[in-house]
Amino acid sequence: MGAQQVAAAPETAADPALVAEILELKRKRRAVILAHNYQIGPVQDIADYVGDSLGLSRQAAETDAEVILFCGVHFMAETAAVLSPEKTVLIPDLAAGCSLADTVDAHQVRRWKAEHPGAAVVSYVNTSAEVKAESDYCCTSGNALKVVQSIPADREILFLPDFFLGSWIQRETGRRNMHIWMGECHVHAGIRPEDIAAQRAEHPGAELLVHPECGCTSSVLYQLADGSIPKEGTSVLSTEGMVQRATKSPAQTFLVATEIGVLHRMRQSNPDKRFLPVHEGAVCMYMKKITLENMRDALRDLRYRVTVPEDTARRARQAIERMLAIA
Ligand code: 13P
Ligand code: SF4
Repeated sequence: MGAQQVAAAPETAADPALVAEILELKRKRRAVILAHNYQIGPVQDIADYVGDSLGLSRQAAETDAEVILFCGVHFMAETAAVLSPEKTVLIPDLAAGCSLADTVDAHQVRRWKAEHPGAAVVSYVNTSAEVKAESDYCCTSGNALKVVQSIPADREILFLPDFFLGSWIQRETGRRNMHIWMGECHVHAGIRPEDIAAQRAEHPGAELLVHPECGCTSSVLYQLADGSIPKEGTSVLSTEGMVQRATKSPAQTFLVATEIGVLHRMRQSNPDKRFLPVHEGAVCMYMKKITLENMRDALRDLRYRVTVPEDTARRARQAIERMLAIA
């Protein structure tokens, strides 16, 4: 898909004066800083909460701060605006988009629904608010399985937009009446089965953590099923699930198949363990648009405000709230 992978720039230490300025602005604006697990280290370090899409949605729904400074990508900030319409939601750079969310729009969903009347539409959280508004359920990588399992077995499902996540759920549930959109995230699709094979050969015995958006996921699942990859040492998890697993697991070495920003927290919380990216080039250029400088500017100038029209927000909220009630 259109977007390109970028090389990871080496991270420089945060400027203490800039950090102090951000914290002072945060206090003045009565703001909370939410950051996704793929953000650069200095952004994660200054955030009040770092997590996956599900955790960030929950925080956005629960916070009593007046301003939410959202350090992630646009659809995530939109979700925060849908859940907290009375709050000021800011994203530091409007170019922080998502190649996966861009693979489907509301018009395409309406057309798909017309072809499958009565089907339940399950939208991964990586979608615009307009697409969520056309959906019955929202889901994240942390709860997609539970959401699909909660839908009566005889009801057709339209799952969008991630093909790899949808295929993984279909395999796990054995569900035949599930149609899957052919979207993909360019970062995760770039993590190929060959990368896993090469890393496993180089680090035998390492635990394998795989995000369900990965191009390697289907192959990992096949290999798990035929026994060529041991079940005990492999997990398919959301980014937050990976961070938690890294701490709980007795393993010393981990192969991590997702965007490399997630390694920051893993390494910080487990300094005595080793975390290796399955693919060094798995860098989301959209997530990396957020910097300490544009966070400071966002809080200082109250920009860029993310809003969702009320009718769209109301319908999108129903899909998100159904998800939050399930998992
Ligand atoms: P998580 O919900 O697992 O954090 O994933 C979000 C995402 O954008 C993956 O690319
Ligand atoms: Fe979107 Fe992929 Fe970036 Fe996640 S990693 S925000 S799915 S482009």
